[in-house]
Amino acid sequence: MRLTMANFSLSRRECIALAGAAASLAGAKALTAQQAAASTPAADPDRERRMKWWHEARFGMFIHWGLYSVVGRHEWVMEDEAIPVADYEQLAKRFTPQPNAARAWAKLARQAGQKYMVMTTKHHEGFSLFDSKLTNYCAPKQACGRDLVKEYVDAARAEGLRVGFYYSLMDWHHPDGARCAVDEDARRRFVGYIHGHVRELCSNYGKLDVLWYDVSWPLKPEGWESAKMNAMVRELQPEIIINNRSGIPEDFATPEQRIQAADRPWEACMTMNGSWGYQKADDDWKTPKTVVRNLITCARDGGNYLLNIGPRPDGSIPEDSVRILTAVGKWMEKNGASIYTAEPCRVKRSNYALFTRKGNTLYMHVHFWPGDNVSISGLTSEVKSARLLASGKPVKVEQDKFRTRITGLPATAPDDPVTTIALECSSEPIQDTMMVRKDRPRRGVSVT
Ligand code: GLC
Repeated sequence: MRLTMANFSLSRRECIALAGAAASLAGAKALTAQQAAASTPAADPDRERRMKWWHEARFGMFIHWGLYSVVGRHEWVMEDEAIPVADYEQLAKRFTPQPNAARAWAKLARQAGQKYMVMTTKHHEGFSLFDSKLTNYCAPKQACGRDLVKEYVDAARAEGLRVGFYYSLMDWHHPDGARCAVDEDARRRFVGYIHGHVRELCSNYGKLDVLWYDVSWPLKPEGWESAKMNAMVRELQPEIIINNRSGIPEDFATPEQRIQAADRPWEACMTMNGSWGYQKADDDWKTPKTVVRNLITCARDGGNYLLNIGPRPDGSIPEDSVRILTAVGKWMEKNGASIYTAEPCRVKRSNYALFTRKGNTLYMHVHFWPGDNVSISGLTSEVKSARLLASGKPVKVEQDKFRTRITGLPATAPDDPVTTIALECSSEPIQDTMMVRKDRPRRGVSVT
């Protein structure tokens, strides 16, 4: 008998929320240990080496695609509309995407300046897009008749992009997917199935770059045998980077729908509208400016930005996603130097700009263009020169102890959606606005 929600006093979502809270508490503890480790040089040289490309990449494409795309009402539709398993399974007869749809995603990702991709190989609905010996509920054995993960991997590689696999531990289709929490035989069967899937994924597609687990409801890491599972992954894929959602911290943290810096590698994942899977009626799109600002914020704080598309069931990308990513790509083409390989930046204060840094170069990203001059408060390092990053055109800088002023700028923003000014400083750019607040000359004293 399939365990129903009525058997639980908490809903899955509530459990997930609780698990999330527990994980962040655990993460907070881990951070303290990490901070201690960080004071020792070369805390984990192997991790640093494996993650170098990922830190430099900064920007990736997330892809949510599965049977839920056929319904077009969010990837949680099975749960949120309480669709019986037998009815939901019928969607597998209608999921017949165009061959190699992933080529267009990979092309778009490359044009957008994204350096890696992460696709749902199996979401919570339990349908595998990859070929599996462990179930018939997978794309090659249903109407689709093809291994969609293979198509995706080939497409990503053809565009020179790194390859990531999302894999949901939570499984609404597997008969043991919920009862594993209360029945040890079921847990053993189910964990055997999950580990078997992960083994297939890590064995059948060549070198993988990222393994992106999701939702570990209803078990704890001990129940999933996560440590054993991830040891197997590392044996099969020694260079892989693993996220924290199998319940153990592993290589990187995954703040979701928010940008939250951590003292360990982190990646903010975000949707472009409000849904991960295709939701045809959701028109709540972020603007290209919002996306660019988010990307800048991640780069400023040493993190990555994984931005999602939810293709239609035929594999085509919603036009609004293409429009947004194309605009972001145009911006990245001219301004990518301020994002890739950026180092954490301690200049933060402005009400119309964000900042990134590489070495002694400070990039001022102006998103609300104020007119012919802009100023930075309390920049303590000397600015030797400044230029508009996109055109290379030099701009005039005036600087005193308190204010760095760039003048003679055009009245309207020269670049869209954000104009970047590169400032070459004589040392690492640091901002001290407290000094400005305390020491700034009072009324009647001329400072410029
Ligand atoms: C959440 C959602 C899921 C989505 C994921 C992406 O865990 O349950 O639908 O895939 O976030 O981070």
